[in-house]
Amino acid sequence: MNNISASAEWQALATHVKTLQETNLRALFDDDPGRGSALTMHAGDLYIDFSKHLVVPKTISLLADLARAAGVPEQRDAMMRGAHINTTEDRAVLHTALRASRTSALSVDGQNIIRDVHGTLDQMGTFTDAVRSGEFRGATGERITTVVNIGIGGSDLGPAMVCGALRSYADAGITAHFVSNVDPADLIATLDGLDAESTLFIVASKTFTTLETLSNARAARTWLLNKLGTDESAVAKHFVAVSTNAERVAEFGINTDNMFGFWDWVGGRYSVDSAIGLSVMLTIGKEQFAEFLAGFRIVDDHFRQAPLEQNAPVLLGMLGVLYTNFFGAESRAVLPYSNDLARFPAYLQQLTMESNGKSVRLDGEPVTTQTGEIFWGEPGTNGQHAFYQLLHQGTRLIPCDFIGFAEPNDDIDSGDGTGMHDLLMSNFFAQTQVLAFGKNADEIAAEGTPSHLVPHKVMPGNRPSTTILARNLTPSSVGQLIALYEHQVLVQGTVWGINPFDQWGVELGKTQAKQLLPAVTGEDPSAGAADSSTDGLLKQYRRWRGR
Ligand code: F6P
Repeated sequence: MNNISASAEWQALATHVKTLQETNLRALFDDDPGRGSALTMHAGDLYIDFSKHLVVPKTISLLADLARAAGVPEQRDAMMRGAHINTTEDRAVLHTALRASRTSALSVDGQNIIRDVHGTLDQMGTFTDAVRSGEFRGATGERITTVVNIGIGGSDLGPAMVCGALRSYADAGITAHFVSNVDPADLIATLDGLDAESTLFIVASKTFTTLETLSNARAARTWLLNKLGTDESAVAKHFVAVSTNAERVAEFGINTDNMFGFWDWVGGRYSVDSAIGLSVMLTIGKEQFAEFLAGFRIVDDHFRQAPLEQNAPVLLGMLGVLYTNFFGAESRAVLPYSNDLARFPAYLQQLTMESNGKSVRLDGEPVTTQTGEIFWGEPGTNGQHAFYQLLHQGTRLIPCDFIGFAEPNDDIDSGDGTGMHDLLMSNFFAQTQVLAFGKNADEIAAEGTPSHLVPHKVMPGNRPSTTILARNLTPSSVGQLIALYEHQVLVQGTVWGINPFDQWGVELGKTQAKQLLPAVTGEDPSAGAADSSTDGLLKQYRRWRGR
């Protein structure tokens, strides 16, 4: 359906939301003592509690009806069988094939892609085994102990996030670093103190045309050769590439024997489980990488099989639709109570906002609804001492996703007999409770609060959140989490009638930067700038740079 907001299901939800606005979470919990378990589900190892949302069971069935009316099941199935659902680029969208088991079968455009996927995984496994065992060494015979992934966007955020998340599983003494920004500070700060002889660079770029990545890769190659004082032959021992573009990799000077490929049906922001995850496999090894992939598969199967009303990615996505389109929410906070997931909000920003930040539908017509939630966040408890004030008492409705783990990978006694992980998790549980139930004026006055302070201390509550709790932060649970959010993106994009798999909006800025470069360097001061604001800024820049 193109214009979803004209559907009977949309209208039914709009009418129903009026009744929700007359109630609140305190009343909903008081009325139904079983609510906490009724609105909770398991997706693989993830225990997902949706009960602190502004919903009743009827809301869930109306959201499922809307998803059905929009064609979510059909779009999910079309994606998984390799239909070209990325219509503006005429491509299949098959990140689910990246984690399909070796024994499964899927042909796309006449090609057995499962064989291709496992062929690359085997190639990665052989290479990572050789590096981890010390069989593959640098040009001077040193063992590789440092990996620097040079990439940006999907070629950076996924592996950077996962290497951070799986820090405790890095078992071969290999440390991964990530360089993405064309700001020279990024590369300089990363290389500072690194030992060239034991460093391996992974140049990760789907297209192998990205300015930031190629500039950083060229600069890293110069650094390496200067440090080693050798000729170009050392490059083969210190540079590998991950790309879909063998021709460009060869042009860059990397031997394509040292290239790990993937395919145009893997979007950059959906690629961490492809060869783009090479840095992850180098640090945790191929066996644990296989567990990571198996985690994705668990949620893929759940997404494929669970009825829409009990389907975690469907509900996560549809609740986002509910708040965005029916409650006027602008953003969603993602709050991992796990320091190792510090990069998860940034990773989700690309996954969700590059996917669903669109205002034109698949049929080329403008959308008739708001699209694309704004995702943001920080690990708890840091966020509590920064922006939670606004979450609790501000004027905006900001639904939150809380993510936490029962068993810590590391724990320390806080000095008074309590483990620090329990301190962390008591905050995790407390925050969702306080957001939902708040504290009213009577309760605050009853504590003896002076009357002039009562209004300032009122905690309105009724602020919705999803709680995602898993037993441990493991390769599998990280895979499950990623798949959960990948699929909620498809759900939302389908409801909004947009294409979550292209990103035309990033192109113009890249072209314009190229056109402005001669004006920046001073080579041609009139290049690119047609407006008086940019012209003035460039003049000031050149003045300060003495150009
Ligand atoms: O500019 C956006 C983008 O195309 C992302 O979609 C992508 O993940 C990133 O750039 C990097 O692209 P590549 O992997 O081709 O270097």
